[in-house]
Amino acid sequence: MAKKLWEKNIDVNPEIERFTVGRDRELDLLLARYDILGSIAHSTMLESIGMLTRDEMTALHEELRNIYGIIEEGKFIIEEGVEDVHSQVELMLTRKLGDTGKKIHSGRSRNDQVLVDLKLFTRHELKGVCENVKELFDALIEQSDRHKDVLMPGYTHLQVAMPSSFGLWFGAYAESLADDMLFLQAAYRMCNRNPLGSAAGYGSSFPLNRTMTTELLGFESMNYNVVYAQMGRGKCERNVAYALASVAGTLAKLAFDACMFNSQNFGFVKLPAECTTGSSIMPHKKNPDVFELLRAKCNRLQALPTDIMLIMNNLPVGYFRDLQIIKELFLPAFEALNDCLQMATYIIKRIEANRDILSDSRYDAMFSVEEVNRLAAEGMPFRDAYKKVGLDIEAGTFTPNKDVHHTHEGSIGNLCNKEITALMEGIYSNMEFEKATEAERALLNR
Ligand code: ARG
Repeated sequence: MAKKLWEKNIDVNPEIERFTVGRDRELDLLLARYDILGSIAHSTMLESIGMLTRDEMTALHEELRNIYGIIEEGKFIIEEGVEDVHSQVELMLTRKLGDTGKKIHSGRSRNDQVLVDLKLFTRHELKGVCENVKELFDALIEQSDRHKDVLMPGYTHLQVAMPSSFGLWFGAYAESLADDMLFLQAAYRMCNRNPLGSAAGYGSSFPLNRTMTTELLGFESMNYNVVYAQMGRGKCERNVAYALASVAGTLAKLAFDACMFNSQNFGFVKLPAECTTGSSIMPHKKNPDVFELLRAKCNRLQALPTDIMLIMNNLPVGYFRDLQIIKELFLPAFEALNDCLQMATYIIKRIEANRDILSDSRYDAMFSVEEVNRLAAEGMPFRDAYKKVGLDIEAGTFTPNKDVHHTHEGSIGNLCNKEITALMEGIYSNMEFEKATEAERALLNR
């Protein structure tokens, strides 16, 4: 069995090893490519301060890029007996390069290594989430524009309330995503700061050039205070989780609406048949399972900030192994959310709205306020008009005028989809993903 990085002259108890390594050997695979990027930047910096010769740096870079290739091919593994990705990479470098491989860990700790890996991973994954959010946003705005004249009942207390429209319904979820994007942007920027060089959490006596690694890795700035850099473990994940949870909240609500409106008792929307599932006993069934699963997954994702918080809860300053467990919750969350976003977009693009809901008299009462407002505009005091229409409805003599005149901003007749789109674009176009992508490409010599 390979020796641990920290193993000296006492053998490791295999049960203790199993318990402490936990799921790291599997989860760290997701961090592997970022571990390489961090090491390329770190070794470049070590050369610049005379801790590595140019030849040693070049050899390390070449081997690190080889390993990156192995990761891309899906052939990278963390060997039996090796604790984590950081140990595996160092082991591979040392096997290949001998003493040069053993020099790379000068001035860093696995604590800042895993911090930088997590930041680079999260930065990359957030980019994917933002792209998927934007796609769903575009689909919703398109459907809103297409259905701007199609009325539907609006509900309060799930009781028929006032006229609404599909333009409003689709557009509401689009605007919700614009707010979620603001959260994602804040999470991205908070994550996009360099912790490398904080080492175990207290810096190093080597004259590290942290400005250099910050630039090489394309970070917006660094986590300056080394103690704070380490304190950011868990905090960064929790804050990103808030942003993911915000998106998930929007999706879960949309999913519930879609399931409800798709039910025969509403009949407001129809999901494309290919997006429904059947029953083993009831031959007529076309169930909205996709939206039901999406709702459950997104409801669960909303627990993520709390789950993370419960692990970090009351930890004092400094590194603790507790933080390792956060990876189990946090790393898989991106794929889960992206999957839901892509499914939602696929169906929203194909969902059909019922253009003839209001011919059903059960919705007549929703025009009551329109009638009250019409009488009030003609001069009858609002309260008297309210009473008259109420009595007419009770007496069964109310006949609705189904012409709806809503003109103010954000209403049925004036959706402000252009303004909502500008809001979204303003945030999305400011995310500065390119800086990160460019820096990573340069580190890989591509
Ligand atoms: N697997 C560890 C984690 O995720 C890596 C850091 C190990 N550091 C330590 N001091 N044991 O936190």
